[in-house]
Amino acid sequence: MSKITMQDLVSLCKNRGFIYADSEIYGGLSNSWDYGPLGVELKNNIKKAWWRRFIQQEPNNVGLDSAIIMNPRVWEASGHLSGFSDPLMDCRNCKSRHRADKLIEEWIVKQQDNGSTEEYPSAEAMSDEESQAFIREHNITCPNCGKCDFTPIRKFNLMFKTFIGVTEDAKGTVYLRPETCAGIFTNFKNVLRSTRGKLPLGIGQIGKAFRNEITPGNFIFRTREFEQMELEFFCNPSEGMDWFKKYRTACMEFAKYLGLSDKNLRFRDHSPEELVFYSAGTTDIEYKYPFGWSELWGIAYRTDYDLSRHSEFSGEDMTYTDPFTQEQYIPHVVEPSVGVDRMLLAILCDAYRVEKIGDGDERVVMGFKKSLAPIKCAVLPLSKKLEDIASNVYGELSKNWRVEYDTTGSIGKRYRRQDEIGTPYCITIDFDTENDKSVTIRDRDTMQQVRVKIDDLDAWLHEHIYD
Ligand code: GAP
Repeated sequence: MSKITMQDLVSLCKNRGFIYADSEIYGGLSNSWDYGPLGVELKNNIKKAWWRRFIQQEPNNVGLDSAIIMNPRVWEASGHLSGFSDPLMDCRNCKSRHRADKLIEEWIVKQQDNGSTEEYPSAEAMSDEESQAFIREHNITCPNCGKCDFTPIRKFNLMFKTFIGVTEDAKGTVYLRPETCAGIFTNFKNVLRSTRGKLPLGIGQIGKAFRNEITPGNFIFRTREFEQMELEFFCNPSEGMDWFKKYRTACMEFAKYLGLSDKNLRFRDHSPEELVFYSAGTTDIEYKYPFGWSELWGIAYRTDYDLSRHSEFSGEDMTYTDPFTQEQYIPHVVEPSVGVDRMLLAILCDAYRVEKIGDGDERVVMGFKKSLAPIKCAVLPLSKKLEDIASNVYGELSKNWRVEYDTTGSIGKRYRRQDEIGTPYCITIDFDTENDKSVTIRDRDTMQQVRVKIDDLDAWLHEHIYD
């Protein structure tokens, strides 16, 4: 077994068709990535699994697909226009750009790794003046050039601005949404009314979000254009903490269900100083990426903040009246929010392994959970003479499955190619197939083989791919 480095991962993703640098023929665009034929399958499978778990299987939850460009008043109400900014500092020596909070957080982690037991304040809770003083006092240096000579902090709004209509003036200014949840809040009453819904009620959506990040990087971990899977769960204030705990557990279980190993996952509860004033609790699920532990999923108990603000700014009363008790209240919200790309990165890292397979030979395997694998099986005829029967098998299977058909190279080489892209099953068509109407199925992980009737193949795959 061996661990993957970010370099290995980027190169495997490019060579095998998971992820390419965006606009590469023009020299690329920094930190922009395109999903290739395998990447898009993997991404779709992750989104389907999330939708099935958090929308389809939850009796109280429904889905939504709201617009990316919204009325700009939405961002006044949500606080994004005034407050969605990062503390930006430039290094005077090498001109590189940094987020002050990240410099401090990384420095604290380094001290702790070196055995320090000192309690440090949370970087997120510091004012700009406090951050600058902390950086000076602890001589925190530029990661690029090692000097401690930074400009004062400037606030930098992360929303992408654009214009609607022909004139680029203030009246036509709109923003690309920096998170998908805003459309859920603005549609809360629509959904309640049109579904005759009662609380508790969850509304989820999957979609693109855009942030003009100061320090994007680590491949698809932090990008300016990304996808989120967000659920806003509306409930009675007296039940909010219970739902928060339920979703905290459900999200961790789901991360493991997708195949992420226990040892690479942990909860990180936000300290009271770190919590925003309206939050009654926030927990991150962190994943141990090759570059260290970092946020994968945020689960936030946001109380009645969002609906109250939208009530105030839109004039639409968001009060809910319980049809049984007549109790009236502004619903509380529990929000589990995860990036599709970040989940995909964790899944790629966790799936990668190199195995010794005797005689000094080795194979690279992407050991995806079978239902997530981009290609579910490969049809491999042992000889050109078997192509008729093989293409019939391929045609039948591809009605229900994403299948590859490969006739080139030795069977060993073909197996290795499929291992490297994580295909759970290789189906070999041999000279007995014509007589016994059966094929050999080889398992990616155990490399064991079984003989199965062609007529039973579809049912066999269902049984072995889905749990
Ligand atoms: N509505 C709440 C919200 O957006 P967030 O913590 O800012 O909260 C939620 O984002 C999740 O979205 C994160 O846990 C992460 O998985 C993903 N995410 C946030 N910014 C990202 C970025 N620049 N690139 C990729 N994923 C990002």
